[in-house]
Order: sequence, then C-alpha cells, then structure tokens
Amino acid sequence: MASPEAQERAARLRGEIEYHNYRYYVLDDPEISDAAYDALMRELERLEEKYPDLRSPNSPTQRVGASPLEEFGTITHTIPMLSLANAMDEAAVIEFDQRIKRFLKTDKEIAYVVEPKLDGVAVELIYEGGEFVVGSTRGDGYTGEDVTQNVRTIKAVPLTLIRRENPPPQRLEVRGEVYMEVADFEELNKAREKNGEPLFANPRNAAAGSLRQLDSSITVQRPLTIFCYGIGEVQGKDFESQWDVLRTLPQWGLRTNPLARRYNNINEAVAYYNEINELREAQPYEMDGVVIKVDSFELQRRLGEVSRSPRWAVAYKFPPKEATTRIIDIKAQVGRTGALTPVALMEPVRIGGVEVKRATLHNQDEIENKDVRIGDTVVVRRAGDVIPEVVKVITSKRTGAEKRFSMPQTCPVCESAVVRLPEEAAHRCVGISCPAQVKGRIRHFASKRAMDIDGLGVKLIDQLVAKGLVKDIADLYALGQDAFAALERMAEKSAGNIIEALEKSKQTTLARFIYALGIRHVGEHIAQVLARNLSSLDAISKATEEELLAIPEIGPEVAQSVTSFFRDKGNQEELKRLQKAGVEIAAPSVRKAEPLKGKTFLFTGALEGMTRDEAKDLVLGRGGEIASSAGKGVDYVVVGEEPGSKYAKAREMGLTIIDEKEFKKLVGME
Ligand code: IVH
Repeated sequence: MASPEAQERAARLRGEIEYHNYRYYVLDDPEISDAAYDALMRELERLEEKYPDLRSPNSPTQRVGASPLEEFGTITHTIPMLSLANAMDEAAVIEFDQRIKRFLKTDKEIAYVVEPKLDGVAVELIYEGGEFVVGSTRGDGYTGEDVTQNVRTIKAVPLTLIRRENPPPQRLEVRGEVYMEVADFEELNKAREKNGEPLFANPRNAAAGSLRQLDSSITVQRPLTIFCYGIGEVQGKDFESQWDVLRTLPQWGLRTNPLARRYNNINEAVAYYNEINELREAQPYEMDGVVIKVDSFELQRRLGEVSRSPRWAVAYKFPPKEATTRIIDIKAQVGRTGALTPVALMEPVRIGGVEVKRATLHNQDEIENKDVRIGDTVVVRRAGDVIPEVVKVITSKRTGAEKRFSMPQTCPVCESAVVRLPEEAAHRCVGISCPAQVKGRIRHFASKRAMDIDGLGVKLIDQLVAKGLVKDIADLYALGQDAFAALERMAEKSAGNIIEALEKSKQTTLARFIYALGIRHVGEHIAQVLARNLSSLDAISKATEEELLAIPEIGPEVAQSVTSFFRDKGNQEELKRLQKAGVEIAAPSVRKAEPLKGKTFLFTGALEGMTRDEAKDLVLGRGGEIASSAGKGVDYVVVGEEPGSKYAKAREMGLTIIDEKEFKKLVGME
C-alpha cells in the first residue's frame, strides 16, 4: 500500500502533468522544457511501479494502449449526434440566414459562430466528476463504437479535466473531431510504404483507421489529435451559447480551434469564411469548409432540427482543390464484389498538401464521356473524403500520341470473362472463384460473428487460395488435416484444431449463416431480422421482393439484394454444396416476437453456463441491444464472476443489476 505521502505526490504529479499538457496542447505555450516534462512522467512511473495500487486508468502513464479487443462495444449517445446541411455558395448561406429569420419571425440580425470544419472522425468524450470515462465515435448519430481505450492514447485529450479557475461539471459530454495533421499523415504513409503496408488515401482515412483500431497499442503510435466543438448532455453547468462553450472548454484543458470567431450578422460570417479560405493552405491540417452556427442556445432550441440536421447550423464548404498532371497509364482494378474500376496512374502532384498519383475514372462510360486517354494532361480534383478524380482533359495539350483505353475482356486477377450487365455502369468479373473476391468472402464467412471458424485467419486463407486448395467457400469443408498440415507454419496440432473448428461451425444458426453469406446490404442485424421473420433458409431464398418489403426494417435495397443473391445459379449451387458438406442450420426459436426489443444489456465478469458471445447472441436474437460501458441507456447489467470496473460504475449510477440466473429467466432459458 502506498503511504499517504506517496498518494499525495502521485496526485500532485498527475495534476502537474495534465496542466503541462494543457499548456502544450491547448495553449500551444509550454511552460517547461520537454526534459523537465519527461522527468515528471518518469517520477510518476517509478512511483506507480513501486506502489501498483496507485495506478488508475486515467493516470497520464496509462496512455500506452491496452490489450486488444475482439470487437468494439456500442455506445448509445444520450443526445443524438446530428449531421450538417451543406451550403456550396454564398447565396445558399444568405438563404440559410433568411430561413432562420423567417422561422423565428424576426428581422433582427442573428449572431453566429464560425468554426473551421475539419475532416476527421467525430467523437464524443464523456467526463464524470472531471474524469474521462468513455469515448465513442459518432456512428449513425444514435449509437457509435466504444473507442475509449483508443481515445485514452490521444495526448491532447485530458484524462482529468483542469479545475484551476472553473471546476468542471459533474457530467460533461463533449464533442469534437479527431484528426491527423498533414505532415504526420505523410510521415506515417512513408513509414508504411517502407514496410510494404497499404497506404492511407488521405489524412481523414488515416485518422479513422487509427481510431478504429481494435489494438490500442497501435493507436498510441499514431499521431492523432483533437479539436472540441460542442457538447452533448451536461449536468451541473448551464451554457448560454456556442461561444460560451468554446470559451469554457479550454479552461478545463479541452482543445478548441483558435480560428473560431463570433460575429453579429451573416455578412461578417461570410467575410470570415473568405478569410479562412485564404489561410487554408497555411494550416497544418486539412479543412473542408467552415461551420456557421447560431450562437444563442435559446435560439438553437427554438429552431430545432429537420431530417437529422439542425436548422441552426450549416457547413459552408470550400471549393474543391484541383491540380494539373499527366496520365501515365490506366489500369483496371478488381474490387471485392468483382466490379472493375479503371484507375488513372499519374505523374505525382500535390493537391492541398497531399501527394496524389492515382485517380479514379469510375467506369467505362465516364472515360468515354470525358474522352480520357493514356498520355493526356488532365485536371484532377480532391474533394473532401473521396478518392481523387479526373475532372477533365486539357485537350489543347494533346500531341497525338495519346492512346484510348478500353476495359479488359478478361479479369486481370483470374482471367475469367468480364461482363457488363444491362442497367449497370460497372464491368464485372463473373468468376465466382476469382481470388480478388473469394478471399474476402471466405474471410467474412469464417469471421467470429459469422460461422466463427476459429484459427482460419487472413494468412491461412491467402495460402489456401494461392495454392488453389480453396476456390469457393464450400471447398473449405472438403479439406483434410493433411492439406492444412502441408501449409507453411502449420503444426500438426493446429491443423487438427482447424479441422475441429470447421466441424463445429457446421452447426449454426440461420441468422449467422445468412450473415456469413456476405449478401450486399445484409449485415448482422438484417440477418437477424430475416431469420426471425422467415424462419428457414428455404423461405428466405424463395421470398419475393414484396414479401421481404412487408417486413419492418427491410427496405428496397435489401429486398433486391437478397432476391438477386438467391436467384443466382452459382450461388444456389454453392448453397447446395454447403448443405452437402454437412452445414446444418438450427431451426430458429419460434418466438417471432422481440421480447427484449428496446432493452440494452451490459455484461461484466465471467458467466458460468455460457460464454460472453453466447449471452450476447441470446440478447440480439430477442431484439435486444448490447452496450459496452455503463451509461444511462443500459437497462440491465448482467454481473458474473469477478466483475470489472463496469460493475462499480453501474452501481454508482444506480443501474439495474442482475445475476446469471435472472438473466437466463429474462431470455426465457429458465
Ligand atoms: S457541429 C449539429 N462543428 O462535421 C452539429 N461539426 O456533418 C453537428 N465537423 O460529423 C456538428 N468540424 O464530425 C460541427 N466545428 C465543427 C465541425 C464539425 C467538423 C464534422 C463533424 C460532423 C460533421 C457534420
């Protein structure tokens, strides 16, 4: 046990380190040298090493990444995270201001806050009693992914809020954008190129890919940072305006963008947009526009929202960035779905701080419409988060040596025929066993939440496909132990384990099987809905579009995708082969109702009679949802042996706590 002196010293060091982080990240004005800062960290590390009871997840020494997760939990946002309507030109912004005045029945000028709009990943951070407890992504606006461990590695995120001038409120949900600076992005890509790893297309993708890492020890190595721009639910403090929020957050150590300004009318706001547009290239990060927000919260409340966007805010986009370069070659790329996309390989050119050497040409029609030829000088555009595209050809630069491109007749990956179906823009490779597609399909089929074939990972699948041992999914079940044992790095024992896992996977549920097929637009949830409503594979495969559309939650895209999947002869064959191989689908419980609909469960500690995954399936199968951390939206906390910190948190919050027995009753097992 640490002595009271050691405890006090640790608390003091943590406070100082958070304060110096604040000086560095928020004020951009460090008070001490890097060496002095490192010395504070080392002293704290040594103390915590000596007295492990001093450790706490929010200690600045704990920003090192935790053990990898199998999947992210979900977090339900207390207040939905809305998105923004766009304005492309000044007229649209003036119209936005007029709409607001009409709605409020006023002709008085409205005060606005103008903030840079960064292109990164929207997140929500939750602080309780000034301590960081949960970080989540925006997700669909209602629920996002629990990325707490990853957020903890971001140094600009305070783990404990500063309480010098202004104590933080009891509960604070703060929203912001996690992003990567352009220079850091380029350095990261350089390192990846050196290691033969795939490159990120832009800083946004790099930020998203880093934040959505299951292994936070990778995230910690990625140079992520954050700007906070708003709040969700707050208990213990009333804010009057957006400007009030932006002025207050930094006092607690939360980083806000110093370019934000408040103006008394829309004309000044528009003038500032033009100013920022000029400053754009000089910033270390990418911006795709500004966000103009009505400052007063009272007015925001009166304005409310329409179709998931607030009436009180608008994203005023910057014009896209363009540059001129030359096309060296055009290649067709085969995607996971078999679609061939023509890609222009170009002389490298910098657009908005990022080097571009490939651009999409979308499809053959697009190439013909724009008359793009190999050797052409072209204008290339990077707009927001999309892949660069060729805008137009500068025909005056033609020399006569340019060559036309046409789609290959055979797939560049598997040499099967390439066809273009009527009504479709894309050319597709018809090869059902095209390696470009089959690896992805098998990977999905074997994944944990699908058929759960333990041990059948990416490397193994690559080998099986490369050696021609597996051409489609059903081939997996025909493999013998010796086939596996002959592969690289495959000991006899693990070959046996995989055979066992394959055997085990043959007993599955309808929902898992449907999900495993990888039908376009059919994720885990839709698979559950189909299984619950149609009860058998046969019924699903024979359902017409009308029948599918009669099911709540099934829209036209899903309906069409499902029917065309089962109509396909090759797919029918494959299903037959799977059944022949011994895949057996358990009849789903007749209970069509969703007894747990609207109920959210949180699990902590080990259960005796089932694994965590089995328990989750029981909940999902009955229409319920799973949370990964204690929060207001949780209806039941199921507590097993040796529960973790979630248990303490749940008790503190006064959530309903049940044991395994009660859980079994709820799901109808006892
Ligand atoms: S306000 C209801 N402010 O833009 C208000 N958003 O489409 C919603 N974003 O997903 C957000 N910078 O990730 C706001 N200063 C800023 C922003 C910002 C970037 C992103 C945010 C959101 C998207 C809205």
